[in-house]
Amino acid sequence: MLILGLNMFHADASAAIVLDGEVKFAVAEERLNRHKHFGGFPALAVKACLDAVGAKISEVDHVAVGQDSDANLAKKVQYALANPAKILNFIRLRQRKEAMRDVRWLLASALDVDSSRLRFQEHHLEHHIAHIASAYYCSPWEKAAGFSYDGSGDFVSTMMARCEGNEIEVLDRVFLPHSLGSVYTMICEFIGYTKYGDEGKVMGLAPYGKATYCDQIGKIVTPKNGGFQLDLSYFKALGSNQGMQVLPDGTVRLARHFSDRMEKLFGEPRRAHAEITQRDMDLAFALQHRFEEIVFHLLDQLHRRVPLQDLAMAGGCALNSVANGKIFDRTPFRCTYIQPAAGDEGLAIGAALHTCHSVLKQPRRHELKHAYLGPEFSESRIQSSLNGKGLPFRKLERAALLDAVAEKIAEGNVVGWFQGRMEWGPRALGNRSIVAHPGLPNMKDVLNARIKHREWFRPFAPSILVEYQHEYFEHDHPSPFMLHVYKIWPEKRQSLCAVNHVDDTGRLQTVARDENPLYYDLISAFHRRTGIPVILNTSFNENEPIVCTPEEAIECFQRTRMDVLAIGPFVVVKPEGNSG
Ligand SMILES: [Fe+2]
Repeated sequence: MLILGLNMFHADASAAIVLDGEVKFAVAEERLNRHKHFGGFPALAVKACLDAVGAKISEVDHVAVGQDSDANLAKKVQYALANPAKILNFIRLRQRKEAMRDVRWLLASALDVDSSRLRFQEHHLEHHIAHIASAYYCSPWEKAAGFSYDGSGDFVSTMMARCEGNEIEVLDRVFLPHSLGSVYTMICEFIGYTKYGDEGKVMGLAPYGKATYCDQIGKIVTPKNGGFQLDLSYFKALGSNQGMQVLPDGTVRLARHFSDRMEKLFGEPRRAHAEITQRDMDLAFALQHRFEEIVFHLLDQLHRRVPLQDLAMAGGCALNSVANGKIFDRTPFRCTYIQPAAGDEGLAIGAALHTCHSVLKQPRRHELKHAYLGPEFSESRIQSSLNGKGLPFRKLERAALLDAVAEKIAEGNVVGWFQGRMEWGPRALGNRSIVAHPGLPNMKDVLNARIKHREWFRPFAPSILVEYQHEYFEHDHPSPFMLHVYKIWPEKRQSLCAVNHVDDTGRLQTVARDENPLYYDLISAFHRRTGIPVILNTSFNENEPIVCTPEEAIECFQRTRMDVLAIGPFVVVKPEGNSG
């Protein structure tokens, strides 16, 4: 049975294909059309899914979309009636959504086939159920508490559920305009981070701040009836799309979220690119602090209703790895499964797996243990790409490749590491990564000056052999998708100085050999040379979506001052002096 899952006309459009209950391939459209957070129709992703399983769209049995414009309709109408200025907008949005619901026509046009040949059954699933399904049905568990939270989706910002067998029972929803994601976005915008997806930057800034504004920020969002509520006087009226707009070309744009009250309380908003002041850092600190308080309150409530130790979690806010790392200390949950594509691209696999298990009652056999679900490229394709770019290269056997690259990293070089299938989700996890020595004091500055050009306050992440996690980090719950931040033990901070954040934490990726043998063996080779079972891992890109194809990797290597490129079995070394 073949099921195609889609996230479309929404940020991070994507497609995934599930064959007999197993996710065979999944990719966000941005990686293929190179348009960051693209929010249109994922035509290239659909084609890539079908190619990956060698199927035609006419052979697909079910198409599942992680959006249902009829969900929570009564709440939407109630909201529109209470906000007369928004009624016209509401009607327009409904009309636009109706036009986009014709999935059959959209697929037939994108793939240039006659729509009468398409025999699939169509399913639309509420946004947050798709998020929870993406986590629960990829987890190893037969039952778990389900939790999803983000800015908004189908008029809901937060969902709690009981997951058992093939059922996801929704226990509670928090409706718009109350949204923890919107609180985060609002304060991000106020301190000058106005682009979709900037929240992760502000999470990195937070530990530079102090508790100056915790009381004031605490008033913006407060617990209520097992959920939470916003004081709306701090927000502009955002409408039923909660301030997120997808333009006709697929660009995602955010409306201004904060009201004049924020300016009265905290002064002028920071302009993008202006100097970051102590006030901005203190606001980031208070924001993260309050965010965590509310999340842990919600998780406590959820645990009361679903008293299990396992938590399946997704939604854009589940990318808050700092909060995720504290779940074990601050809530009764003991294990988390956080879907690697916790943001909205993950809706594609959530919708497909929900159709498979909850609708069609197919048995669950598959646990998603790794995130390598994207495209891969043959050795001959990589070789011809290198030839096409006129780059001299050496081809090495596996052991020689690992030794050569580990030696280059140990010497302090910056290495582009392009191997196997591209990662699903926003993190590079050792297949489309730039890797470097984690214990060199200047490595963060070198990476930023030469390639990444990131804000000074953003940390780089460590990949660690899973067996050594407890020697380096205070927690031993694994983090295979780089979605937890833990404290680094004091005696290890020096040897990890390039990945040790200002609060002595690291957003680690634990690497197990059965999940990625080649990457595991690379870290092992580095460990043998240096005594450190960790390498610095940052995504293989400059200011663009993470590279997908060999050509994109080679161009990024040529454009930036990377020292070495290891692409498949081939190694390219820049001549001395060319990488600066
Ligand atoms: Fe979402």
